[in-house]
Amino acid sequence: MTTMSRRGFLRAAGGLALAGPVLGSCSLSEVGGVTGVVVDSELDLPEPFQVALPIPPVLQPVRRDETTDYYEIVQREAARETLPGLQTPVWGYEGNFPGPTIVSRSGRRTVVRHTNRLPVPTVVHLHGGRTPADSDGYPIDLVLPPGSEAEMYGHHAEMVGEVSHGFRDYVYPMQQRAATLWYHDHRMDFTGPAVWRGLAGFHLVVDDEEESLGLPAGANDIPLMICDRSFDSAGAFRYPARDPSLTGAPGVTEDFMDGVLGDVVLVNGAPWPVLEVTASRYRFRILNASNARRMELALDPEPDEAPFIQIGSDGGLLGAPVRHESIPIAQAERFDVVLDFTGQPAGSEFTLVDRLGEGSTEQVMRFRVAGPGDGEGGDVPDRLADMSDFDALTESSSVATRTFDFDQAGERDGMSMWTINGEMFDPRRADADPVAGTSEVWELHSDPAHPVHLHVVSFKVLSRNDDEPKPTDAGWKDTIDLVEGERARILIPFDAEPGRYVFHCHNLEHEDMAMMANMEIR
Ligand code: C2O
Ligand code: CU
Ligand code: CU
Repeated sequence: MTTMSRRGFLRAAGGLALAGPVLGSCSLSEVGGVTGVVVDSELDLPEPFQVALPIPPVLQPVRRDETTDYYEIVQREAARETLPGLQTPVWGYEGNFPGPTIVSRSGRRTVVRHTNRLPVPTVVHLHGGRTPADSDGYPIDLVLPPGSEAEMYGHHAEMVGEVSHGFRDYVYPMQQRAATLWYHDHRMDFTGPAVWRGLAGFHLVVDDEEESLGLPAGANDIPLMICDRSFDSAGAFRYPARDPSLTGAPGVTEDFMDGVLGDVVLVNGAPWPVLEVTASRYRFRILNASNARRMELALDPEPDEAPFIQIGSDGGLLGAPVRHESIPIAQAERFDVVLDFTGQPAGSEFTLVDRLGEGSTEQVMRFRVAGPGDGEGGDVPDRLADMSDFDALTESSSVATRTFDFDQAGERDGMSMWTINGEMFDPRRADADPVAGTSEVWELHSDPAHPVHLHVVSFKVLSRNDDEPKPTDAGWKDTIDLVEGERARILIPFDAEPGRYVFHCHNLEHEDMAMMANMEIR
């Protein structure tokens, strides 16, 4: 067990004096660090770069009508070869980890019927979705295994929401712009272990504006779900749940309070995979789906020019591309980037590395140039999406300011808990009551590092520690990474349907151990 908690270390913002449109150097020095404790795998880790990058299949609708596409997903257990020669039991959407990718067209309603064949209740949340409250995956709106009751799984009567038996239809209006979303389990107190076992997948939204830009598409548009995991000697995932059946005591054993880290890096479910590319441009939709691991992604060898051309953030395309030398990415954040392999000779290799990793987690995956490109990679225009609404949004539109402290204060079953403004999550309490159609400034303060996520809305980062936001804060965000002691101000237009939604820390162990609160949109 290696403790990495609260280790703040300073990194020089090196390599920023580069040619090309690098927008500003960081106003903060890159202060990093990973909050969590590594679970050691009980087997010899495989050699990196031996397996091909899997691409999750795109799910086909079972039916379409005038307005709506209908999908069906069965949540079930299955065994998957994750490490060479070993079967890993997963809890997967359609038995797969990652789950199948859903692709929705902006403006067309998407209905997903989720059937629960797992041994515990589940809840599906569409992260980044502009969802009505009853389809947002409120943490106690349980989908129960058929023929069972919530009490059988440790959910007390006053902590049970709108329950369904066997299946639930989640309805997504998709009145939102093109963006990289993801769906994952969100059951109160048990999200960390359920996602660790495999309950996560991509849900992409596409629209005409994006398609008109000629960005890399088709085989040159690839989602990358990066997450860390650990394995026991038989190849099963190791996770320090207090009750591994996930029906009794919630949370993790005290040693892992700060978060659970793995020593194997998976991309789309495969350990340190290789992607063969042509010498052309690729769009990568990068998601950090780890429970607790923050990363800073870079390329090795480091190209002369900052290699990551960011075209999109959590909430979709930016107004213009922004180049970065590295990508700091916390849990649940998405970065849409273009990497340009044009002109690279066949046989060139670039390794995607994590500068915050240690030992086995320093490397993520590898790109290998297999041959010349023939213009299939598209382009990156200087202007991307129309962001006039975003640009016009200023603090003067805010009708209220709220302050939230992400800290450790509470206690449950004799263990200390993670809290927001000193309070543990309670579905019966409203912690914020913004009015639909208005904007508010929220001031977030973090101790130690917490990636803070708001459901249903997107926001604009106004400042960090009273200074400018980072270049990687560009565009609409739904998750903001805060390092130890950091204070950020965000501006949130609450253009959502009234109802009850949550906001929380996306370190999933912190979330399970009470770092979640309610916003009751009026
Ligand atoms: Cu991806 Cu409530 O979270
Ligand atoms: Cu979310
Ligand atoms: Cu946290």
